[in-house]
Amino acid sequence: MERRFSRSAESTMDSFIMGLVEVAARPGMISFATGLPDNTLFDTQALVRAMEEVMSEDPCGALQYDTPTGYIPLRKRIAERCGRVLGFDVGYEDVLMTSGSQVCFDLIGKMFLDHGDVMAVENPGYLGAIQAYSAYSPDFRGVDIDGEGPDLGQLSAAVGDGARLFYSIPNHQNPSGVSYSEDARRGVAEIIGGSGCVLVEDDAYGELGYHGRVGRTMKSMIPDDTILTGSFSKTISPGMRVGWMVVPEWMRKKAGRSLEACCLQSNTFCQRVIDRFMADVDYDSYLDVLRRGYARKKQVFMDAMEDCLPDTVSWNDPEGGMFVWLRTPEGTDAMRLYERALEGKLVVMPGHPFHVRGGANTIRLNFATPSDEQIADGMRVLGAACRDLYS
Ligand SMILES: Cc1ncc(COP(=O)(O)O)c(C=O)c1O
Repeated sequence: MERRFSRSAESTMDSFIMGLVEVAARPGMISFATGLPDNTLFDTQALVRAMEEVMSEDPCGALQYDTPTGYIPLRKRIAERCGRVLGFDVGYEDVLMTSGSQVCFDLIGKMFLDHGDVMAVENPGYLGAIQAYSAYSPDFRGVDIDGEGPDLGQLSAAVGDGARLFYSIPNHQNPSGVSYSEDARRGVAEIIGGSGCVLVEDDAYGELGYHGRVGRTMKSMIPDDTILTGSFSKTISPGMRVGWMVVPEWMRKKAGRSLEACCLQSNTFCQRVIDRFMADVDYDSYLDVLRRGYARKKQVFMDAMEDCLPDTVSWNDPEGGMFVWLRTPEGTDAMRLYERALEGKLVVMPGHPFHVRGGANTIRLNFATPSDEQIADGMRVLGAACRDLYS
């Protein structure tokens, strides 16, 4: 008997990240590897209060199925925020709630990709999303990212070849921490607008600019060509699994149907808790606290890097988010640094898996997860490993 998986199952890429989560969970390990938010910034008290309120006010409603596209008061709250903070007007009907934003990538792949279709992705790009798209076996075209944003020539070539999608993270990119400049945003809008290629604007870290939001949203520039995906994972709780996508009106029906077919709906209880939480805490002030928390953490990390790392390696200074991008000398393989750090019980994330080409000499470092003490200890290990390998 021959057992056979579908083409979709066979083509779904492996993710290096999940393996690292397991390694990082071993006793005594310090992790700069994963993308977990800072535990100390969860507002557990306000969340418990919101849960109690939700359960005392309408317990059956909170435990029941809801409309597939999500809890309407929360969708209205997100739509209001889109108008006031993200720079574009949208009705709640075009805001679709999902179980984390990861689901959006699968739904978008399902809606737009057939086997072999051209799809542009940032190089480096967010591995989790690329893994989701890989199930639809597109022909990935890497668009190099530098400190300013994407290589517009490469993007233009991919769109010229009929790219169906461009998946992008204009603010505080995972993995590199880069945010697009105004020129880059304008360039992307000019290439994508009216081309037939749909832009996926992943805004997972958009609210975590240390001094507020940076740059205009692509959705405000080319609304009809853009799907904006958002998430409460980095701002409230990843475990609650609540994300959303804002789609152009022409996509609304197909997106709603795909969502329903995939999972009926996202978690009713958690959507209601988040809605209540946002009302209770004054969400804008809450985000300011979070931003200050991550800005402080980043500074602790930067200071430790300055103190411990040799000048044979280099890194950037992000304006928001949770990641710093480290470069080892040209021609070296940062996998060696990963292995050497592991011997000292420090887990870092090699940058190579985030690339469709190149990137062997890069490492992604997360400063949100470790405590200040772990940052100091871990950086000493990283510094010693760098000096050993790149003296
Ligand atoms: C850039 C980016 N987008 C999307 C996600 C998925 O997040 P979630 O499914 O928890 O909303 C992540 C998770 O780390 C991410 O880093």
